[in-house]
Parts: sequence; structure tokens; C-alpha cells
Amino acid sequence: MPRVGIIGLGYVGLPLAVAFAEAGNEVVGLDADPRKIEALNEGRSYVEDIDDAALAPLADHLCASSEHADLKSCQAVVICVPTPLTNSREPDLTYMLDAAGALSAVLQPGQLVVLESTTYPGTTRERLLPILEESGLSAGTDFHLAFSPERIDPGRTDYTVRTTPKLVGGVTEACAERARELYSLICDEVVVLSTPEAAELAKLLENIFRSVNIALVNELAQLCDRLGIDIWEVIDAAATKPFGFMRFDPGPGMGGHCLPVDPFYLAFKAREHDFYPEFIELAGKVNRAQPAFCAERIARTLNDAGKSVNGSKVLILGVSYKAGVGDIRESPALQIVKLLQELGADVSYHDSHVPELPELGLASVDLDDALRSTDLAAIVTAHPSVDYEEVVSTAPLVVDFRGTTRGIEAPNLIRL
Ligand SMILES: NC(=O)c1ccc[n+]([C@@H]2O[C@H](COP(=O)([O-])OP(=O)(O)OC[C@H]3O[C@@H](n4cnc5c(N)ncnc54)[C@H](O)[C@@H]3O)[C@@H](O)[C@H]2O)c1
Repeated sequence: MPRVGIIGLGYVGLPLAVAFAEAGNEVVGLDADPRKIEALNEGRSYVEDIDDAALAPLADHLCASSEHADLKSCQAVVICVPTPLTNSREPDLTYMLDAAGALSAVLQPGQLVVLESTTYPGTTRERLLPILEESGLSAGTDFHLAFSPERIDPGRTDYTVRTTPKLVGGVTEACAERARELYSLICDEVVVLSTPEAAELAKLLENIFRSVNIALVNELAQLCDRLGIDIWEVIDAAATKPFGFMRFDPGPGMGGHCLPVDPFYLAFKAREHDFYPEFIELAGKVNRAQPAFCAERIARTLNDAGKSVNGSKVLILGVSYKAGVGDIRESPALQIVKLLQELGADVSYHDSHVPELPELGLASVDLDDALRSTDLAAIVTAHPSVDYEEVVSTAPLVVDFRGTTRGIEAPNLIRL
């Protein structure tokens, strides 16, 4: 059983570390955040998909550390650090480059290094490989190097690390074979691609496909608002076609670390080659405009009831980017809150997964009290723990941006 090192123990790295440990491997997890190291070594999880109870039996197999030297004894090291955008929406590889530099200093002959962070095609070979070779070791001969995209979907339970096929692309055939062997320990199916570049682009295709299709239904939702047609009825109807249609639902906009970010990694790479991928840019533009549409829809609903946004109490239900998780990165709810605050609304929120939003000066409020005292409740992220029938029967006005109240008809209820 190989000893596996994981650099970056977040939404991706921690479930991966747990999967390897559960399969009987010794795992060394490294993170730059000392609070995460402390939590794990005390058996506390900070990722919703991993219970403390799942960590308890792994105490002997999973060791969290901040010492890169601990990676020397590993046969494989997997990098799962963030790959965000800079303020000018260009790839920010600093986390990956830092992790690579630290790994290079302790890299051992015979080790396999795998990058899992989502990134543009060419990153593994052009950016990661040269840093690792500063160790004096050569990729493909002294150590192996591959890219394997993460496909985790936080909150999802129908597909797990084991049952989701894993893509791998190696710098050489031997590198790919080493990566295939590694992931076969925790995945039922490993798909080997010819190069890391193909694997890097496959991941981006998956996310761009979602971004473009979400933009399409978001645009249609805005059109339906003008036409007075129920977008949900239209989508439900189209989805009865058993072939040639795949369902995507509109919403308040895209959030999380992946969909709002990843497409721009490819757009950046394309621009280097004088190519301007219009679908990606257009989908990003439509999806980024969706929170403003939602804020305007809230303002219009208040106006129709004879109230101005300025001075009205607006309760936002759900501020994380998706149901069932507490991740607020790029969450459209934050934009909606800011826009309403700028218009003078008295905004509060309820989200059992997000106790506070310090940057907006807000903390989650008690739902029952807030529903009684608000002018309008907006369902932005539909956590399953909330009783939406109760929301509609208690709040004076409800705007639902998730279609979660389908089946309820009430004069105080507006759906996207
Ligand atoms: N979250 C998802 O659903 C998801 C899904 C698929 C792919 N991805 C990709 O996986 C990568 C990681 O995403 P995530 O959601 O796990 O991010 P995350 O922020 O939850 O976790 C990353 C961790 O890396 C740590 N870190 C940063 N720099 C480090 C360094 N130099 N050394 C050690 N640790 C370091 C951070 O402290 C953090 O704990 C990203 O490229 C992302 O695009 C994420």
C-alpha cells in the first residue's frame, strides 16, 4: 500500500485523503492553514461531506502536518490547492506555484506527483514540471508526473469518490500508468488520457458545459419574466423528452470555486493563441448579471405592493452558493445582499450553514422571528432544512429564485 501525501486539505483534498485512508493507505495531509491541521489532528472535520465520525476510525492512517519533510516518505503526492482568479480575472497560480516550490525541495526519486487543481491546458507540463525539476530530478525518469482532475460535487451523495470515474493524463506513458495504479486504489474506474493537457481540458469542458447551459436557462428565465410565462413549466415540459435534451435549472447566478472561475482559465489560454472563445465569455457575462436581475426583481415585487426598497426589510434565505453546503465563495447571494443594501434595504439573512457574513456586517437570524417581521423573503439558496410552505404562509411577500415552491400557488408568491 503506497503512503500518500496530499497538499491542500480543503473541499477536494480532505475527501481524497479520507478515501485513501479508508482504503488502508497511510496518508500525510499538508495544509498552509494551521487551524485545519489542528482540527484534523483533534478528529474534527470542517468539510460538510466528511463527518467527525468518519475521521475517528482513520486516526492511525491520516496524519495532518505542516512539515513538507513529512512528504519524503510518500510514494505519491497529490496537489489540491486553490486555483482562483486575480482581480483582473486571470489565472492566479500562486498557491500551486508555492506548493510546487515547497514540494520540489523535498522531492524523492521514484515519487509520483499528481496535480488535481483545476487549471488551463499546459499547466502541469509548462508550470509545474520545471519547478519540480529544480530538485535536480527529471520528470518521467527520476519521478513521475500526471494531472488528474477532481470531479467532487460538494453535498452530492449519489456519486462518491469511488463511483465517479477518474481521468488521468501522464507526462509519459509510465507516469499515466503510475497514476492509474494509484487511483485504482480508491476509484472503480480510471480513464487514461494520452496527455495531461487532454485531462486538463476535459475538466474545463465539463465546467464550461455547465456554465453555458446555466447561462442559457438564466437568459430564458429573464425572457419568461417579460413574457409572463412560467420558466419552470417550460423546463419541466422540455425535460420530458427522453433524448437530445439535458435539464439545467435557472437560479440567482453561479457560485462556488469552479463554475464562475474555471472557464476563464481556458479563455486566458485561448487568448495566448489569439483565439477568443465567445461562448465562455458570453456565458460568464449572462451569469454574472443574474444577481442584479434578482435584486431588481425583488425591488419590483416590493414596488408592486406599494413599497420602496429603501427602508424595506428583506430577508434572504440561503447565502451559500448551493443547497446543503456552507461554501460562500463567489455566491450570488452576496451580490444580491450588497445591491439591496446599496438601494437602502434593511437586509438580513437566514442560513444554518453560514453563521455570519462579517464582510457584510451580518449574522444569520432566527427564521421564525424574521419571517414574521420582514417585508419580503427571497429564496436564494434552497437548503432542504427550511419549510418553504411555512415561508410562503408567514412572510407577506416571497420571491423564489430556485423554483423550490413549485406546487404552491399563493398571491404573495413570485417565482423566477
Ligand atoms: N470545491 C469543489 O467542489 C471542487 C471541485 C472540483 C475541483 N476543484 C478544484 O480543486 C482545487 C482545490 O479546491 P478546493 O475547493 O478544495 O479549495 P479549498 O480552498 O477548499 O482548499 C484548498 C486548501 O489548500 C490549502 N493551501 C493553499 N496553499 C497551500 C500550500 N501552498 N500548501 C499547502 N496547502 C495550501 C488551503 O489552506 C486550503 O485548505 C481547485 O483548483 C478547485 O478548482 C474544486
